[in-house]
Amino acid sequence: MDEEELSQYLAKSLVVMIIGSNDYLNNYLLPLLYTTSSKYKPKDYADLLISHYTHQILALQRLGLRKFLLAGVGPLGCIPNQLVTGLPLSGKCVSFVNDIVGLFNKQLGSLVNQLNANHSGAIFVYGNTYGVFTDILNNPSHYGFRVTDRGCCGIGRNQGQISCPPLFIPCLTRDQYVFWDAFHPTQAVNEIIAQRAYSGSPSDCYPINVKQMAYV
Ligand SMILES: *[C@@H]1O[C@H](CO)[C@@H](O)[C@H](O)[C@H]1NC(C)=O
Repeated sequence: MDEEELSQYLAKSLVVMIIGSNDYLNNYLLPLLYTTSSKYKPKDYADLLISHYTHQILALQRLGLRKFLLAGVGPLGCIPNQLVTGLPLSGKCVSFVNDIVGLFNKQLGSLVNQLNANHSGAIFVYGNTYGVFTDILNNPSHYGFRVTDRGCCGIGRNQGQISCPPLFIPCLTRDQYVFWDAFHPTQAVNEIIAQRAYSGSPSDCYPINVKQMAYV
């Protein structure tokens, strides 16, 4: 491609950024391994992540990318890995974990507003992973799910600890499970979240959805 073709190609490309979960699960929420949670209050940690994130997003924008889907973090307090901490009442999620990722999502939503206001040649949309995931957990049968608190892959004492290891035999009805393993949603859940980002209402994907962004 020559320079002109490349900038046209970048300008019509979609950038999909889905990051943040591991900054919580594999860092902030592991106080025995990392000092982050003693150095930063939840709000300050969210600010720190968003500040680094902003620089990276703007670097991509300066390269000529113009269409960004920035997905929020899901309700991490509801994943099997957090449920086995013994902190939640039975049948409930770990609310302080959901509260701190909520701070990140709130900041990401306001970043999207700022980016749209400051960079008129580009579009930034916020994918409300948290909202869609919570809807699935609150109405599992509506979506055909039967199991919301255990992974399809994982039993016994490994239930809350592991990603699905090689050679491990998972459950046979993965479409009925919200979680694939202790950390990750199943393909069935990812499909719903992707559909809602693609063609959902502004409460799913804000201010416009990915389909609309693609046509702009
Ligand atoms: C947007 O512009 C305002 C006003 O100049 C500035 O304070 C803010 O940092 C900018 N934000 C982003 C994300 O570009």
